Amino acid sequence: MFQKIKENVLYAGMNDGGRLFFDELIPLENGTSYNSYVVIGSDKTAVIDTMYPKFTQEYLKSFDENGITKVDYIIANHGEQDHSGSIPAMLEKFPDAIVVTNATCAGNLKEMLLVPAEKIQIIKNDEELFLGDKTLQFKIAPGVHWPDTMFTYIKEDNIICTCDFLGAHYIFDDVFAVPSKELEKSAKKYFAEIMMPFSTMCRKYIQLLKDLKVEMVLPSHGPVHKNPDWILDLYSDWAGERGKNLVILPYVSMYSSTKDMIDYLADKLNSKGIDTFKYDMVSGNLGDLALALVDATTIIMGTSMVLTGPHPAAFNTAYLTSVLRPKAKIASFIGSFGWGGNLFGKMSEMLAPLKLDILEPVQVKGKPKQEDFLKLDNMAEVIFNKHKELGLK
Ligand code: FEO
Repeated sequence: MFQKIKENVLYAGMNDGGRLFFDELIPLENGTSYNSYVVIGSDKTAVIDTMYPKFTQEYLKSFDENGITKVDYIIANHGEQDHSGSIPAMLEKFPDAIVVTNATCAGNLKEMLLVPAEKIQIIKNDEELFLGDKTLQFKIAPGVHWPDTMFTYIKEDNIICTCDFLGAHYIFDDVFAVPSKELEKSAKKYFAEIMMPFSTMCRKYIQLLKDLKVEMVLPSHGPVHKNPDWILDLYSDWAGERGKNLVILPYVSMYSSTKDMIDYLADKLNSKGIDTFKYDMVSGNLGDLALALVDATTIIMGTSMVLTGPHPAAFNTAYLTSVLRPKAKIASFIGSFGWGGNLFGKMSEMLAPLKLDILEPVQVKGKPKQEDFLKLDNMAEVIFNKHKELGLK
């Protein structure tokens, strides 16, 4: 059954508890939900976002089961198919309905889902759509996380549908969020993987929602926030520019030389009061790395040499780190080789877009020796001093 959020505002989404990965990349521990909302005005009915294609038939049937026989508008807050995928089927079921969205999203819907241009009404920022006793106002919000994203503000109810922004991969029975460490972790992981590259935009939209003093936040994944400050304050921290007193150490080690150095450096940093997070690039859970990247100020990557370059797992992690655009300020590399090659050049190039302060790396042949441990002592001291300069404790 659809769930009531406010009078004539209904939750019409679905849980996908069996989904193990999102984007074929992100391990999901709590599945996900694809949220859709129905707003029934005195004259017109609107549906805000639709459904992931796999569940289209079940979704369409749910309208019959809940007695929704007329839909006038389908609001597309975003063109990605986990929300827009059922639009063509909805237009078949409700042939008089019109899709309402911004110009960028309209272009995506036409190209990606073959939605006919004559079925789309394009709106501008702050434009309003009147449903009778309810008004939808559109807040075009590019960059969280596509150029086509926007929010739909239900004015009379003072609630806002933010699509992916402020979401979480999290299934639920009751649509209203119960703040917990588990939900916080899911939301943070979601932020890391979906929103972190767009932290600047996140900060702008956090302020927009704070200025509106919205009563509820209705995202497109995860539960509805009746206490918007809970999720907005978490986002303010995650999207902020200041990291924590944390060094993350992703590593791959074939004969334990690299791992021995990572362990040694981590112990040194811990002894100086700096938190560390070691991440095995081969067996670790990518979500845990993403979580740590939200907070880290320093990233030290460790890799063994494979043929003449870093282990492919190190490339993978360096690439992912680069595209997720964490707030980290400092980086370096540690590694061990057998017979030669360039261990760090390409990884350094890969991280270049982050404009990090790259410290002197430590590269050893085979096992680390006394002089190598001294270099690691020095690296720990340099990190300690730089964190201190940044005011981190
Ligand atoms: Fe949940 Fe960008 O789609």
